[in-house]
Amino acid sequence: MKVLVLNGPNLGRLGKREPGIYGSTTHDDLVALCERTGEQLGIEVEVRQTDFEGEMVGWLHEAADRAWPVVLNAGAWTHYSIAVRDAAAQLTADLVELHISNVHKREPFRHTSYLSDIATAVIAGLGVRGYPLALRWLAEAGE
Ligand code: DQA
Repeated sequence: MKVLVLNGPNLGRLGKREPGIYGSTTHDDLVALCERTGEQLGIEVEVRQTDFEGEMVGWLHEAADRAWPVVLNAGAWTHYSIAVRDAAAQLTADLVELHISNVHKREPFRHTSYLSDIATAVIAGLGVRGYPLALRWLAEAGE
């Protein structure tokens, strides 16, 4: 079983970016955490990050064609991108929408998600520890 972890804009700057909100873990650390979790769970995990919406749409198409489950932190696209939503809606396997911060405790514009109603589950506010939890759930769901 393979799970794709897709991170959207500005998440490549984890560790430097607003550490009071997003923590001190870098994106490289996050990749290592996800890969280590995949090894423990006996599943293949691939982590990708992009600041380009079209690239994200292409990765979602790939996941749809391969029937891969996806953990998606779409960053700001969550709150306004119909293109990312339309691509994510084509997934046939599980979609976990993930946010490092609790978006519901933050600015009102972050309370809207174009993904939540098409996602299997939503994780928000658990920091980067949400990623291994999402992977564990997907591994168990796929057993
Ligand atoms: C985020 C929350 C979004 O509102 C924000 O635009 C991000 C990161 C999170 O992980 O908490 O870039 O998705």
